Amino acid sequence: MHDWPYPSWIAHRGAGTLAPENTLAAFRLGASYGYAMFECDVKLSSDGVPFLLHDDTLVRTTDCATLPADADRVAGHHPWQVLSQLDAGSWHSPVYAGEPLPTLQAIAHFCRANAHFLNIEIKPTIGTERHTGEVVAQHAAQLWRHAAVPPLLSSFEIPALEGALASQPDLPRGLLIHALEDQSWAQWLHHAARLRCQAIICNYELWDAESVARAKAGGFRLMSYTVNEASDAQRLIALGTDGVITDRVDQFHPQS
Ligand code: G3P
Ligand code: MG
Repeated sequence: MHDWPYPSWIAHRGAGTLAPENTLAAFRLGASYGYAMFECDVKLSSDGVPFLLHDDTLVRTTDCATLPADADRVAGHHPWQVLSQLDAGSWHSPVYAGEPLPTLQAIAHFCRANAHFLNIEIKPTIGTERHTGEVVAQHAAQLWRHAAVPPLLSSFEIPALEGALASQPDLPRGLLIHALEDQSWAQWLHHAARLRCQAIICNYELWDAESVARAKAGGFRLMSYTVNEASDAQRLIALGTDGVITDRVDQFHPQS
């Protein structure tokens, strides 16, 4: 198992909501607030290029209205040549007009050049879960092949983590959990162990003294998303968890 080299404070989607999420501009803004680790959402274009986007469709965070009216809005159904032409900044504010969707390669260059750490959340287009895990892990291993610290791969999708494990077993993994729902803690911990995850990354409301103790007893690092209130951050730190993912890069100062 890797040692745990990652910082405790992680900027969600680059800079939370202060810049267009999952763009290089957001990473630059997050870094300007002192953040050294970033979370981002990565999926594949139809021709296999890993790029950053949260939603399954292009509607919320790009100018896809400029595509033909009958064009498919599912991002992963388009080749990179089409996706690379879209404006992923104007939806946020005019100052970011023209900001492109970034490839994982571009983000890797930025992180490597600045000694930043990265959490790649594998966010597959529906129906491509395992394949996306395999391909994103392959690209991550190649892009960070000379790095001292690899990116942390995470996903809500168990097949995506299975693909990442099969493809690049040495890259660290984290299992994302939104709600216990039909699975007990014991079942989630079993999944995390089977997937050889180093971390469990929860909706922060799931962490309490009992769940922290159980996950720590399993040997996992404990992280939380998306922590935007000081009282929640203080509670999670007091519980002894290892990292928080936040939108509030302007409120929480990693060096303090
Ligand atoms: O990776 C943590 C967090 O980003 C998961 O939720 O929907 O913001 O990707 P979401
Ligand atoms: Mg995410």
